[in-house]
Amino acid sequence: MNILGVNAHHADAAACIVRDGILVAAAEEERFRRIKHWAGFPTMAVSSCLDEAKLSLRDIDCIAINRNGRANLVRKFSYVLSNRPSVKLLTDRLHHRRQWAGAAEQLLEAFPQDHFAGRFMHVEHHFAHLASAFYASNFPESVAVSVDGFGDFASAAWGWGSGTALSLDGRVLFPHSLGIFYQAMTQYLGFPNYGDEYKLMGLAAYGAPSAVNEVRPLVSLKRDGTFRLDLRFFRHHRESIAYEWSGGEPTCGELFSSELEALLGPRRLSNQPLTDRHRDLAFATQAVFEEAFFHFLEALSSRYSSDALVLAGGCAYNSVANGKIVRRTPFKKVYLQSAAGDAGGAIGAAYAAWHRTGGERAAPMAHAYWGPGYSDEELAACAAAHQSALATEKCQVRQFDAEANLFETVAHAIADGQVIGWFQGRMEWGPRALGNRSILGDPRRADMKDILNLKIKRRESFRPFAPSVLREAVADWFEYDDDVPFMMQVLPIKPDRRPKIPAVTHVDGTGRLQTVTAATNPRYHGLITAFGRLTGVPMILNTSFNENEPVVCRPEEALDCFLRTKMDMLVLGRTVITRNLRKTDTARDADALIKA
Ligand SMILES: [Fe+2]
Repeated sequence: MNILGVNAHHADAAACIVRDGILVAAAEEERFRRIKHWAGFPTMAVSSCLDEAKLSLRDIDCIAINRNGRANLVRKFSYVLSNRPSVKLLTDRLHHRRQWAGAAEQLLEAFPQDHFAGRFMHVEHHFAHLASAFYASNFPESVAVSVDGFGDFASAAWGWGSGTALSLDGRVLFPHSLGIFYQAMTQYLGFPNYGDEYKLMGLAAYGAPSAVNEVRPLVSLKRDGTFRLDLRFFRHHRESIAYEWSGGEPTCGELFSSELEALLGPRRLSNQPLTDRHRDLAFATQAVFEEAFFHFLEALSSRYSSDALVLAGGCAYNSVANGKIVRRTPFKKVYLQSAAGDAGGAIGAAYAAWHRTGGERAAPMAHAYWGPGYSDEELAACAAAHQSALATEKCQVRQFDAEANLFETVAHAIADGQVIGWFQGRMEWGPRALGNRSILGDPRRADMKDILNLKIKRRESFRPFAPSVLREAVADWFEYDDDVPFMMQVLPIKPDRRPKIPAVTHVDGTGRLQTVTAATNPRYHGLITAFGRLTGVPMILNTSFNENEPVVCRPEEALDCFLRTKMDMLVLGRTVITRNLRKTDTARDADALIKA
């Protein structure tokens, strides 16, 4: 049975193919459209997934969608009757619903020769989140939790997974939402773009607890483990917030009210400098989020008497909070799949559809490499096709037949302070580059963060870079010893190790860990092993392969990014392209840039 899973008309539009319960392809539309968080109907991701699975739309038995307009209908009507929200808010919701109803027509338009004859299955937004986490995990039983902005009138949900069965046992309904709380505070602190919450999370580590008591009244904790917003400080429940989901970069209007500015002072505009007050408010936001999040998880742990947790939803990208779950709650085993947010709803809907037909539990998702892929030969051909552009930049192109030589060469370049574009195999599913579409650097160099920030990323200096660590070496470097394959948890680095890896140690002594195994990515594991042999440090700094754009998808985009930045080396499969730089040029360039 071939199921096409879709997250559409929402941010991070995405598609996947699940064949007989096994994930075979998954990708986000933003990578093909080259617009971050692209929202609309993901025709290019559908096309790519069909290609990867060697299927056509005719072969698809079911299209599973992570939205069900009928879910929570009674609660929606009773809310409208008792709260009388604005007419604009209601008409916007109806418009959004009509976009969804046109999915069949949009498929027909995008694939006119390829007739879909199967059926559509609508899966409640939060059930899809729970399914994306539980069925992708290898847990036979676990509590399943979704914490989010909103979907199908709910902001959070919980349930119990056991074997092939998964229940949705409760919800936190509109208008109360931890995702909205965090997003509103992100906007208030001058980060207005969709998906900017991770900036606030990075900034929080620089703050002090001075403002926690001021922010705490925004979220109250209920005895049953759930939470409520103090709605005086928000607008989303009474006015139409200008959301845009219909084919482009998603945008979201202002979520906080003037009462928030009366409480905390004037908002920060995005062009204003960051002060200690802003850093403390970021700290307070993260602290209040964590209080509510752990209060919620603790109640669920005792309700189900379980120490295993699977987690999804937009707030599941709060890797700082995720890294504290084991220490702060009774849960001892935690699993998140790589696209924990709304893109992941595509695989959740597909898994749910499979299990509704009585399908067996299939292989857990142990890696994230489900996107479009390229062979070494295709990558070599791509480099050859760009020979003249590379010659203009005085680049050398070399082929490596032996992987060991490739690893040694790249490891030495990293140890020399060079910045490497590393492009291999199939693209990652989810927002993190995990060793197939990555930019790599030396974690030991204190100036590496500045080199990357100034030469390529041009991003805020307070945002940390992350380490990819050999799984077998994790316990030597981190105060943790378990699999974290998708970079979803920020964990404490052992205090005596922190000075050895300053480029990946955040200001609070933590690191956003990715564990790497030979079984799931042998080439990346081989490279880190070679670097470890050379330096005694079995990890590499890993950041996404992009420059203020979605992560690169095709090798042409990697080449383009390499040529327009000051990256030193580009590795496409076994093809290595180097700029004609002397060994010390990278460090000297960086010094000049930093002084400038
Ligand atoms: Fe969601």
